[in-house]
Amino acid sequence: MKGIILAGGNGTRLYPLTKSISKQMLPVYDKPMIYYPLSVLMLAGIKEILIISTPRDIAGFLSLLGNGQKLGIKLEYAIQEEPNGLAEAFTIGESFIGDSPVALVLGDNVFYGSDFGSRLLESSALESGSIIFGCHVADPSAYGVVEVDNEMNIISVEEKPENPKSSFAIPGLYFFDNKVVEIAKNVQPSERGEKEITSIINEYRNNGELKVNIMGRGLAWLDTGTHEALLQASNFVEAIQKRQGLYVACIEEIAYRRQYISKSQLIELAEPLIKTDYGKYLLDIASEKTFQTNK
Ligand code: TTP
Repeated sequence: MKGIILAGGNGTRLYPLTKSISKQMLPVYDKPMIYYPLSVLMLAGIKEILIISTPRDIAGFLSLLGNGQKLGIKLEYAIQEEPNGLAEAFTIGESFIGDSPVALVLGDNVFYGSDFGSRLLESSALESGSIIFGCHVADPSAYGVVEVDNEMNIISVEEKPENPKSSFAIPGLYFFDNKVVEIAKNVQPSERGEKEITSIINEYRNNGELKVNIMGRGLAWLDTGTHEALLQASNFVEAIQKRQGLYVACIEEIAYRRQYISKSQLIELAEPLIKTDYGKYLLDIASEKTFQTNK
């Protein structure tokens, strides 16, 4: 399976922070926001990843992450000229996707919780159909909303409904088979002028090829689109890291634990970070002081 991180957008709800830099470059506590969605795809075992961003911001991501070789993965880059909607990821990414299934993660979504790694590995084994997630939130009206019955059959999927039919928001992480490319080509802009991912999801649902995975209480999904949400995400990451002594979205650690890089490569990655706790953490991992977990 291949992966796409959609890291464009205008970030207008974060002005003036995002007037001259990408939202996905802003810090979530101790690392750039894009590390979080990148870590999700890496945990899913996906090694070929396309980063899509704006004409203004793409160079910044290239200078931050390069071709991925240092992490034992392959990163490519593409431009979305205008924020015309999430469904465009699959048309912009058509040649990158080729004949593979594909996972899409939004550049501003943060996930953390027990068992998430194994759930991701299960999802990335998908060969046909599609998988989305459902996450219980207090106010789902700002998101795509999925309604399910007791047997987990999907009753409806709606984009930002005024009167949500359930409390399950659809987070920005989706797994599709290769048909998504052709489906995306036929998506027409919605009333708000965007090519909606919900149109793609509904197409899979109409064909009986949509599965929803409800995320339980043990899994946190944080959005970072407003000043308050961004600060809350930073505070959450700080609290987890300080308390557990285990890092959230540490891409170098994941590369090492997934055996994409060797111990000496990990130590090399730690060197320029050595004045920070982050760098010291990487050295601790290399010397096995930290509890081994594959999650
Ligand atoms: P949004 O938060 O909906 O949009 P935004 O980032 O432009 O922010 P704002 O509403 O404050 O103006 O986007 C969700 C994520 O998807 C975010 O990571 C940006 C990305 N995105 C794109 O890359 N291209 C798009 O066309 C859209 C709509 C979003």
